[in-house]
Amino acid sequence: MGWVARFEANKDTLPKHPPQIFMDMHVSLISSIAPINHLFYKVKPVTCRGLLQSQDEHENKMRNKMAQLISQFENKGLMIEENESKIVKKLGHGASAKVYKADYQNEMVAVKMYNQTILTQDFVSCMNEMKFMCSLHHENIVQVKGLVLQESPPKAGVVMALAKKGELGDVLYKSRKIRRGGSELKFKIATGMAKRLKYLHSWNVIYRDIKPENVLLGENGEALWTDFGYSRYIDYSVCMTGETGSYRYMAPEVIRSVKYSEKADVLYFRGQ
Ligand SMILES: Nc1ncnc2c1ncn2[C@@H]1O[C@H](COP(=O)(O)OP(=O)(O)O)[C@@H](O)[C@H]1O
Ligand SMILES: [Mg+2]
Repeated sequence: MGWVARFEANKDTLPKHPPQIFMDMHVSLISSIAPINHLFYKVKPVTCRGLLQSQDEHENKMRNKMAQLISQFENKGLMIEENESKIVKKLGHGASAKVYKADYQNEMVAVKMYNQTILTQDFVSCMNEMKFMCSLHHENIVQVKGLVLQESPPKAGVVMALAKKGELGDVLYKSRKIRRGGSELKFKIATGMAKRLKYLHSWNVIYRDIKPENVLLGENGEALWTDFGYSRYIDYSVCMTGETGSYRYMAPEVIRSVKYSEKADVLYFRGQ
C-alpha cells in the first residue's frame, strides 16, 4: 500500500492529466470530480513539492525533444499544426504509440501519437522512424503527410495515409477463405511485401520487425508497410547484433544476438 496524498489546487494550476512521473511511480488517480479542485493520488512517500518539480523537469525534457523535432523537420515543410487534424476514433496501438483515424484537410488519415515514455526514453528510435517514414517513398510504404506536435501534454506524432483495410493479421484471421486458399489477394500482398523489402534493402535499410500487425492493407488490398521503429541503416563496418523485433517472427541470428545483415529480414518475411 502506498500513501494517500491530497492535493488542493485551483483549476488553473492543476495538471490536466495525472503527470507521467506519477504514473511511473505507480500512482493511481483515486477520484476526480468536476469542477476539479480536489485530487487524490495514491503515492509513494516522496514530497508533493518534489513530485511537482519532477513533473516540471519531465515537461522541460519533452519540450526540448519537441524543439529538436521542429529543427529537423520544419525546413522540409513537414510540420502540421495541432488543430489542423481532428481525431475521429482509435485505430490501434503498439508498443510505442496509439494510432487514431483523423480528419485532415477533408481527408481521412491515420495519426500515430508516440507514448511519452518512448519519446523520453527512446527518442532516437522515434526520430529514426520519422526520418525513414518521411524519406522513403514507395507504393508499398504508407505515405507520410507530416509531423504534428501536441502542446499539452507535450507529445509528437506522424500524420500518414490511412490504410483502409487495416492490419493484414486481422484480415487473415477474419477471412478463412483468404487464410486457407491460394487466393489472388494473398499473392498480391506477398509480392507487395517482397517489392518493398527489395526497395528498403536497396537503400541499405534493414527493417527488423516484419509481422502481420505491421503490414497494413490499402483499399484494394495492396500491402502497405508502416512502423519503422526498429529499422536502421545497415552499417557493414560495425557488427549488427541487436536483439530486436518480435520473437515469433525473428530470424535465429537475431534471437541469438550474433552478427546479422539484411538477410535476417528475409527470414522474418518467410515466418509470416
Ligand atoms: N496508416 C495506418 N492506417 C491504419 N491503421 C494503422 C496505420 N498505422 C498504424 N495503424 C494501426 O495501429 C497499430 C500500431 O501502429 P504501429 O505503427 O505498428 O505502432 P507501434 O510502433 O507502437 O507498434 C497498427 O498495428 C495498426 O493496427
Ligand atoms: Mg507495430
